[in-house]
Amino acid sequence: MKGIILAGGKATRIRPVTDVLSKQILPIYDKPMIYYPLSVLMLAGIKDILLISTPEFTPSFEELLGDGARFGIHIKYKIQKEANGLAQAFIIGEEFVNKEPCALILGDNILWGEELEGKLKKAVKNVEEGFVTVFCRQVDTPADFGVAVYNEKTGIVSKLVEKPTKYVSNEAVIGLYFYDSKACDYAKTLTPSARGELEITDLNKKYVEEKALKAIPLKKEEFEWNDAGSFEGLFKASEQVRLSQNNGAMIASPDEIAFQKGWISQTDLLKIAQKYGKSKYGEYLEDVARKSRVDDKKADDTMSLDFLDELK
Ligand code: DAU
Repeated sequence: MKGIILAGGKATRIRPVTDVLSKQILPIYDKPMIYYPLSVLMLAGIKDILLISTPEFTPSFEELLGDGARFGIHIKYKIQKEANGLAQAFIIGEEFVNKEPCALILGDNILWGEELEGKLKKAVKNVEEGFVTVFCRQVDTPADFGVAVYNEKTGIVSKLVEKPTKYVSNEAVIGLYFYDSKACDYAKTLTPSARGELEITDLNKKYVEEKALKAIPLKKEEFEWNDAGSFEGLFKASEQVRLSQNNGAMIASPDEIAFQKGWISQTDLLKIAQKYGKSKYGEYLEDVARKSRVDDKKADDTMSLDFLDELK
């Protein structure tokens, strides 16, 4: 399974902050926003990632994340010249996807929860069994989202509506999707919607027609989810991360996930911690590395750590 992070868009709702900064690099409490969707893909076990952003901000992501070696993964970059819609990710990313199953996550969707890894594994399994998978969350303002009607027992989606003007369902489809190998071919058949975009909901409808789209519900009691596209969303997500981290564990540290997955060694993690020095992030990583009983030999010690020289 491959993964795409779509981190472009104009972010007009939060100007002037985004005049010179990408929204997806703004902090969500104590980390850049992009760490959160990156962590979700990594938790799903995805090591081949394409990050798509705007011509002006793609270099910032490259500087921040590099080629992914630091996390024991591969990150490539592509530019989306104009915000022509979420489904365009599968046209821009066609060569990267290379007819394999691929997940897509929106760069401003902040998602976490103790059982998240299990749900992500379920989505990967669904795709293996022939079902493209979306995640749903009950919301008070369904008109702001794409919404789904699905069978509670089977999860099979029977209806999808983007930004419904009259009530259809209060189950919002969040910005995380697990596709089979047909997504790029289907994306190429789409035509722009009334708002001029290649809609992800239209891509998903192709699978609804085939009865091949499943929804996994994410209950509010178990998962935190925020669409951090507004100042309110940014603030709320930051506040929730701050409160959730009160028990000591950090949410969305790709370095920690890489270590726990055995993609980098204890020595690698200590070196990263060292480079971040006395920052909260650096101290946390050092703590994780020192407390761990993970056998250092498990990870591939031969990975390139050249990026460390670039970190200050
Ligand atoms: O957050 C979940 C919702 O995301 C879904 O329920 C909707 O079905 C889906 O259409 C989407 O709705 P939004 O109105 O939130 O999409 P928005 O246009 O705000 O784009 C979401 C993110 O993707 C945002 O950070 C900007 C980025 N983006 C957007 C477009 C249209 C791109 O990178 N490229 C694009 O072409």
